[in-house]
Amino acid sequence: GAGANAGRGALIVLEGLDRSGKSSQCAQLASFLETQGVPVEAWRFPDRTTAMGQMISSYLSCQTSLDDAAIHLLFSANRWEKRSLMEAKLKEGITLVIDRYSYSGVAFSAAKGLALDWCKAPEVGLPAPDLVLYLDISAEMAAGRGGYGGERYEKLEFQKKVKQKFKLLKDAAWQNVDATQSIDSIQTVIREESIKIVNECNSGRQLMQMW
Ligand code: TYD
Ligand code: MG
Repeated sequence: GAGANAGRGALIVLEGLDRSGKSSQCAQLASFLETQGVPVEAWRFPDRTTAMGQMISSYLSCQTSLDDAAIHLLFSANRWEKRSLMEAKLKEGITLVIDRYSYSGVAFSAAKGLALDWCKAPEVGLPAPDLVLYLDISAEMAAGRGGYGGERYEKLEFQKKVKQKFKLLKDAAWQNVDATQSIDSIQTVIREESIKIVNECNSGRQLMQMW
């Protein structure tokens, strides 16, 4: 069963626009997996606790400005600095539920006009998610929820561009989740998909690399 912990953990990523509901769905998914006896940790990118993460945080809150390419590479490096820990956790049998990953990295930078392939290049070789749950919502509806915190990217027109870029990033691990449903209905879908992939990883599904 899922809790047997014989094999590796699953790498599960939630993606979506700002205010698509990722953070609450991640937290609920991690608690659910715990009740199922699945060893699990909830992570997020950017990881603002590291030195690089603090530079990113300062950029996002508009306290510092940085060249678009430089901040892109910093977001990527913030994942690379966690690479060996990610791989170690997965190998130990711990499932990681991660709020944003390389998909946000590429979508947000490409929305500024950087070339998609250039944006993808620094992600190559990172552990690939076994499952990407994309919380699909229009930029208008997400903005209508309110609660944009005033960070750099939290503007309707920009989020529309980000959504167009996300659409170009669908890969084999990608699952669209209708994020206009109720919180509970969304969580039900997310749980089903997650349990399936946790079981597959536990029974030997190979960890892949981006991209
Ligand atoms: P977010 O998940 O919204 O953090 P918080 O919940 O603390 O607000 O992430 C901050 C912003 O960073 C968000 O607008 C998306 C953006 N982002 C990138 O531009 N590149 C990346 O690689 C990542 C992970 C996020
Ligand atoms: Mg945000």
